[in-house]
Amino acid sequence: MTKQRHVAVLPGDGIGPEIVEEGVKVMKQAGEQFGYHFQVDFGLIGGSAVDRVQNPLPTETLQICWEADAVLLGAVGGPAWDKNPPELRPEKALLRLRKELGLFANLRPAKLFSGLEQSSTLKAEVLEGVDLLVVRELTGGIYFGEKRREQTERGEKATDTLVYQDYEVERILRRAFEWARNRRKKVTSVDKANVLESSRLWRQVAERVAGEYPDVKLDHMLVDNCAMQIIHRPTDFDVIVTENMFGDILSDEAAILTGSIGLLPSASIGEGNRGLYEPVHGSAPGIAGEGVANPVATILSVAMMFRHSFGDEQAARAIEAAVTCVLNQGARTMDLAAPGDLALSTDQFGDRVIEELKQQQ
Ligand code: NAI
Ligand code: MG
Repeated sequence: MTKQRHVAVLPGDGIGPEIVEEGVKVMKQAGEQFGYHFQVDFGLIGGSAVDRVQNPLPTETLQICWEADAVLLGAVGGPAWDKNPPELRPEKALLRLRKELGLFANLRPAKLFSGLEQSSTLKAEVLEGVDLLVVRELTGGIYFGEKRREQTERGEKATDTLVYQDYEVERILRRAFEWARNRRKKVTSVDKANVLESSRLWRQVAERVAGEYPDVKLDHMLVDNCAMQIIHRPTDFDVIVTENMFGDILSDEAAILTGSIGLLPSASIGEGNRGLYEPVHGSAPGIAGEGVANPVATILSVAMMFRHSFGDEQAARAIEAAVTCVLNQGARTMDLAAPGDLALSTDQFGDRVIEELKQQQ
């Protein structure tokens, strides 16, 4: 029986439209092979939405995202809108969209493709076999706590507040354990429990949730040590789960393990199955419109969409396997090509992925 799914597609700015086109192409091909019928609705977002309707996140866009099972986003922003007032800034749209959809878990896998060890600044033998997933809490912690400025006798004083409630910790930990079950069954919960009260609560809740997942191993690690271990022994990690700010920093650190930012997908998930899928990189205005951007991050984001929003591990793995095959054959976009090597254009690379995907079932 054909599975009906509704996907909101938000190409955005810069290279967004070019890479999203490849993502949609791959999504449709996988849909055909794995029995889906898609309703695809396109929406405006970011600077291009500001130009058209003076609003970075138009109501119609929010509406189609609400109605959709999943959202595929390109990227927003660029120099053309950098001087806009706050309410007309492209990034505003992203923060608001994540919040409106209640997306509290941000997932960033970092996996090394064989043959790309040279793109990283770390030694190949350290990177061999890297395959980790950073799960970052996205709607709590110090970024959302009370902020204050005040004058004191000794000058100006600024305060940020780091707040977590047990239910916020519990729901993200539970997600991390569930994802670990489909991987190598190891969760590293990262905190600063030697200093922070919110981290002590985090650790307590982690222990409690772990009781429900006896098949998954839980370790605790202090964030400063984790920052070292990610580059020292990255293959030791399977799933890393942590609070908002630690996750912001550690996920960028984990990202550089794999070389080009053009390879890295992400997913943001809330309660239920709806998710927002987007490459980790931005709108790359310097190469926009040239058809040279790497579409891999977006294509792998589509794989995550099948995995997390449609519960279809088989389709997700087929897309990932197709990308791996194409890279193993030596196909490279400009960002990964060695000097003097012929690079594929964005859509040529997408076509190669489609051809490989047809061989997967
Ligand atoms: P960026 O990720 O757009 O670009 C950084 C570097 O990586 C540039 O050299 C770019 O050419 C290259 N690059 C990025 N994606 C690539 C791809 N798929 N293929 C090949 N090369 C790629 O970050 P940058 O330059 O800091 O920001 C540019 C704009 O994007 C800014 O307006 C920023 O605010 C916005 N941005 C948006 C994000 C989003 O929509 N989620 C995330 C990060 C930045
Ligand atoms: Mg960041």
